[in-house]
Amino acid sequence: MDGVRANPHIDLRSCRLGLRPSLAIVPTMPTNKTTHITALSGSPSARSRSTALLQLALTRLESDEAHQQAVHVRELPPAALLFADTQAPQIRAAVAAIEAADLVIVATPIYKAAYSGLLKTFLDLLPQDALRGKTVLPLATGGSAAHLLALDYTLKPVLIALGARHILDGVFATDAQLQPHETSGGYVPDAALLQRLDRALQGLDEAPAPRCRPAASVVPQIGAALMR
Ligand SMILES: Cc1cc2nc3c(=O)[nH]c(=O)nc-3n(C[C@H](O)[C@H](O)[C@H](O)COP(=O)(O)O)c2cc1C
Repeated sequence: MDGVRANPHIDLRSCRLGLRPSLAIVPTMPTNKTTHITALSGSPSARSRSTALLQLALTRLESDEAHQQAVHVRELPPAALLFADTQAPQIRAAVAAIEAADLVIVATPIYKAAYSGLLKTFLDLLPQDALRGKTVLPLATGGSAAHLLALDYTLKPVLIALGARHILDGVFATDAQLQPHETSGGYVPDAALLQRLDRALQGLDEAPAPRCRPAASVVPQIGAALMR
């Protein structure tokens, strides 16, 4: 299905990472092997730093590839995105990939101090509560550190509106932190970026905050106590 692929390690080959050997062998974050991960790329570019950062995040997780999917918004049909055709098969498959995920990793370039318009066309097609109960890791790349907080003030409110409550620390990388690799056509992350990414991924160890019981089950008990 166009735009949705089962194995991001193959799918993201157009933005291969040129990891230095010393960086490639650092230990990965343990995750539950059955955690379903969907990688969502919002860059319009075929050779994309933000998509490379997305792939880097996947390589930092000890996750079974059978449980990974990738959605590249740039590969979804433009007319369906622009005219909100939620019934287009490719859009349905992409939405299903998001719904099937326990962990959604979303990556975007910063355009005009915000996340990409391309990403927005897809987020607008998601059902209202599409991210409820999921963990979300937001990633972004930008030309400079000027819009370092763009993930917090532009993307995060949208993720919350879609129901996400367990949002890991966003990771923003400047273009200088992802240098083109000489031969592979990929990008080499600097050590500070890797460190920040791993710190963000450590948030996976923290269970989401314990849920409050719904008011309906609590109120009768309070009522009973008051009537004693
Ligand atoms: C139209 C356009 C607007 C941009 N606006 C910003 C911006 O406001 N702030 C910023 O830091 N970088 C900006 N950039 C730079 C990109 O965010 C940056 O190069 C990014 O790494 C591109 O990601 P990609 O390779 O995944 O597309 C802009 C780039 C383009 C093409």
